[in-house]
Amino acid sequence: MQVVTVKEILHGTLDAKQVHVRGWLQNKRTGGGIIFLQLRDGSGVIQCTLRKGKVDEKIFEEFQSARIESSVELRGDVRPDPRAPGGREIQVVDGRVVHPALEEFPIAKQFHGPEFLLDKRHLFVRSDTTLFEVKYFDQKAYLTQSWQLYAEALIASVGNIYTVAPSFRAEKSRTRRHLTEYWHVEAEAPWCDLNCIIEVEEQLLSHIVATLVEECKTELAMFERKLEDLEKVKPPFERVTYDQAFKMIGEEKSGIKWGDDLGYEQEKLLTVKFDRPFFVTHYPKKAKAFYHMPDPSNPDVTLSVDCLAPEGYGEITGGGQRIEEYDALLARIREEGLDPKSYEWYLDLRKFGSVTHSGFGLGLERVVSWVCKLDHIRDAIAFPRLINRIYP
Ligand code: 4AD
Repeated sequence: MQVVTVKEILHGTLDAKQVHVRGWLQNKRTGGGIIFLQLRDGSGVIQCTLRKGKVDEKIFEEFQSARIESSVELRGDVRPDPRAPGGREIQVVDGRVVHPALEEFPIAKQFHGPEFLLDKRHLFVRSDTTLFEVKYFDQKAYLTQSWQLYAEALIASVGNIYTVAPSFRAEKSRTRRHLTEYWHVEAEAPWCDLNCIIEVEEQLLSHIVATLVEECKTELAMFERKLEDLEKVKPPFERVTYDQAFKMIGEEKSGIKWGDDLGYEQEKLLTVKFDRPFFVTHYPKKAKAFYHMPDPSNPDVTLSVDCLAPEGYGEITGGGQRIEEYDALLARIREEGLDPKSYEWYLDLRKFGSVTHSGFGLGLERVVSWVCKLDHIRDAIAFPRLINRIYP
């Protein structure tokens, strides 16, 4: 059964239908053989009721003992009910707790001082009091409070999330594809594994390219970019694993050992073999940041993915599936010699209803460079910031 959003249910078109929803337990009340749950999925909050005798005894008990902010999945019938907030409720027939919260949620209804709430910001963003609601034509929209490092915290508040924001890199890379400040398109999605995020990426890139072909023919001609090249950019993109890529480049020519990240030179050798963007997946653990999920079938590699543009351009996106288990993340932090204290808030996210989740970052100027066949990334941005240039 397809998963629907709370927003769709509250709209009213699913009344009397059976639905499948998933999200986080925002609140819970028990009494007289009924459990009232408030389920939050990022699009809204809905009351869900579990009645003793109407669901399996084991499921009833599982939900009776589940703490607030556990992640859950439910199946049930939508019923209009004027007593329920939002005017509708789901009468649950089946469900499961996906990841039970490991501790009591530290933010209660009682008053907390501002310092305490600022320390718990990564969890406080889950409450629905902290967002600015704005009218966007005939829809509601929310302004996010912050992004970047905090996207994983925010998915438990608003669901799928993206931003287009400046990122800053102090890398001493004097190459044709490195800026010190660039526009970063980042997306994060709960309930999404490696395969799912790859599909999001190929759809996004195909949409960008198709729109340019449709609307910017004159400009593309100026850059001598043939439309036929771009018309080939359609999902699904080809996928190769790091192992396959390593063999394709050839060990001697590559100048790297197995386990090293692919740099500009290696990617160049690889990308000349392709005429459209493609994915390299399953990079070794050593080549990627600690939060990448090790592949359960081969823990030396991760469920990571980079998208590489053809014709020598190389990496335009980087991302993958994140570690969702608390203990596994802590072990990786320790393994990398990092201080768990600095990552306490990030580890907390795995204590309160962790879910399978993935995300990626796309370098906007990298995409523009490839589409427009530019020789240097500095020409893809109005005021380039490079290792040796911060003026004008
Ligand atoms: O692969 P990166 O470093 O991934 C991240 O930052 C992740 N935290 C993203 C995520 O999963 N949300 O960077 C992502 C992309 C790269 O693929 C590249 O396109 C671009 O950002 N990028 C740069 N673009 C221009 N100049 C630089 N110095 C860049 N460094 C990365």
